[in-house]
Amino acid sequence: MAIQIDQPSVSLSRVAVSDTHGEDSPYFAGWKAYDENPYHELTNPSGVIQMGLAENQVSFDLLEQYLEKHSDGATNSGRTSGFRENALFQDYHGLLSFRKAMASFMEQIRGGRAKFNPERIVITAGATAANELLTFILADPGDALLVPTPYYPGFDRDLRWRTGVNIVPVHCDSSNNFEITPQALESAYNGESNNIRVRGILITNPSNPLGATIRRTILENILDFATRKNIHLVSDEIYSGSAFSSRRFVSIAEILETRNYKDSERVHIVYSLSKDLGLPGFRVGTIYSYNDRVVTTARRMSSFTLISSQTQQLLASMLSDKQFTGSYIRTNRERLRKRYELIIDGLGKAGIRCLKGNAGLFCWMDLSTLLEEPTKEQELCLWKLMLHEVKLNISPGSSCHCSQPGWFRVCFANMSEKTLEVALRRIHDFMERRKAH
Ligand SMILES: Cc1ncc(COP(=O)(O)O)c(C=O)c1O
Repeated sequence: MAIQIDQPSVSLSRVAVSDTHGEDSPYFAGWKAYDENPYHELTNPSGVIQMGLAENQVSFDLLEQYLEKHSDGATNSGRTSGFRENALFQDYHGLLSFRKAMASFMEQIRGGRAKFNPERIVITAGATAANELLTFILADPGDALLVPTPYYPGFDRDLRWRTGVNIVPVHCDSSNNFEITPQALESAYNGESNNIRVRGILITNPSNPLGATIRRTILENILDFATRKNIHLVSDEIYSGSAFSSRRFVSIAEILETRNYKDSERVHIVYSLSKDLGLPGFRVGTIYSYNDRVVTTARRMSSFTLISSQTQQLLASMLSDKQFTGSYIRTNRERLRKRYELIIDGLGKAGIRCLKGNAGLFCWMDLSTLLEEPTKEQELCLWKLMLHEVKLNISPGSSCHCSQPGWFRVCFANMSEKTLEVALRRIHDFMERRKAH
């Protein structure tokens, strides 16, 4: 029996009791509903299917095969010296071999069109830590970052909770495929940030939740805007390896390179292996900043959020095998593209329209025609129906701060193709029942 401990009212810090952790959003509530009744083909076929988790499991077999073949070289298992080096290594610069391998992997994902200097790589425990750490460095409590909507719900926690920084949404809408327009940027900067100092803009490219890359001209506009306002530009490029279609991914690093690094001191890139390699549990992320002071400070602060040396060593070895990474990137993209086509086709047959995507682990589906009124409340009613009746956990647009009700993010790479087919059948049947009504 667990020992019961009395919980008298001892007060906690302001940060601890603040609700800026964002965890009371439907985004996290849906995960809980899944945990309580998870779908399993044989043991729980009527359980909830988790479509709210942007996890990449489609290429796990490639990593497993590689590790099986290279277990000695990659882990140094059986070599006492390797064990000792790892056990004692605690330099917050990280292993040079790992930073080199990470820089070259980031180049490879961008088709060699951008260069990364290992000296500018700061290692962090995932993109979560990288985004928070950058926010600590770029803004003071009470300041704000502009973030285009719809955006990844975790930003409400990562950018705000412990830093005391605010998010000012840059409202984008479906009439132009949620593009980040100069007007939307200006109006967020001028209108909604009265009395708050805007210190930067954070974009996600390819975008989560839209599953689409940002066009070059839009990126150029955003960089020009940041330069005009003298603010920072953070580009979270965590999904860069998942861009799977012809409209290719353009990194902010490429734009800087074509501009001879003009205005680069305000630009910082966030990257992690959680999505492209499907390794969120390894907690491997980086900040790549073109600003020397930001690099130095981020490196000092990264003491709070390092990656274990054993993980660095394992990945240094895997990422520097160019033959493996090249073939992994190609196959992973191809598999994601197939998954995307499967889900878009299935949703289309059920009469559901999606935003045209070309990247990521999810699609952005429009269920606005099912709402009695275009309100957030109606959207949440529909979300609850999908969760409790259809038994699918999808993320409502309002949890991503989408200003138009009725959009939902649906993840497709965190399950087997068979489970995805079950999910699509459930959606199809649900839509048929709605039509019959
Ligand atoms: C845009 C974006 N940034 C950051 C993260 C967090 O990633 P990590 O697991 O590397 O902390 C996610 C995860 O879903 C994400 O979608």
